[in-house]
Amino acid sequence: MPDRYAVFGNPIAHSKSPVIHARFARQTGQNLVYEAIEAPLVGFADAVLAFRAAGGRGCNVTVPFKERAYALATWRSPRAEAAGAANTLSFAGAEIRGDNTDGIGLVRDLSDNLGFDLAGKRILLLGAGGAARGVGLPMMECKPAELFIANRTVGKACELAARFDCHGGGYDALVARRFDLVINATAASLAGDLPPLPDDIFAPGALAYDMMYGRETPFLAFARRHGARCADGLGMLVEQAAEAFFVWRGVRPQTAPVIKLLRGS
Ligand code: ATR
Repeated sequence: MPDRYAVFGNPIAHSKSPVIHARFARQTGQNLVYEAIEAPLVGFADAVLAFRAAGGRGCNVTVPFKERAYALATWRSPRAEAAGAANTLSFAGAEIRGDNTDGIGLVRDLSDNLGFDLAGKRILLLGAGGAARGVGLPMMECKPAELFIANRTVGKACELAARFDCHGGGYDALVARRFDLVINATAASLAGDLPPLPDDIFAPGALAYDMMYGRETPFLAFARRHGARCADGLGMLVEQAAEAFFVWRGVRPQTAPVIKLLRGS
């Protein structure tokens, strides 16, 4: 019998995680199945516990349940603690281990796939919601010259900056500043909006990274117009999955062929 895993979200129909984990399993010879489960908005914990009772070994968790997964965990990794959210749960007897692989997924995509070393770089993180909170600690661990968090609601940027021991403020604080890497962790793209960035925010050779994938966002279009190198969040998606796979199975799958496959389809 293969071991069972799943991803819980709402909505979840378009999740690429089942394809990613099926590829990882085939590549590494691991005997497992991985499905997508839509949990009701008010029944997340029950859905996860039912999955565990039916023999599930662990699960990924996506929007809007990552904070609830964190609350459900009986043990939390330091990176889950830092994010205040869990995207990876492992079931071990009565214990539910909560982890967060989003930040390391972003860092690995930047360093391994895009050749961008964060050490000594000036980094601008746009947004102060869950997506931004998930990546702060792993980025600070790479010792950038600076991490600045900009957000529409200034208080939230300052709060997050205090949490990660970096700087934060509103978009008006970006005037006359230049960054080597600008990461869009806002939900602005969902509404077709662009965060209010100065035209000259990108240092020469800068990388613009949008955590969204699947379409050209207003942020990436803006970055392209202003000469920045552009990347979407597909690599981060595959890298966070690979780290979750490693947490569960102790085996590290190769990500490059899976990223290539998803880009092709
Ligand atoms: P997530 O958990 O996916 O990060 P969230 O917690 O709703 O989602 O946070 C969304 C982020 O996108 C927030 O930083 C939000 O800014 P506010 O804190 O000021 O609400 C940001 N955001 C959403 N729409 C935006 C827009 N049109 N322009 C700029 N920032 C936006």
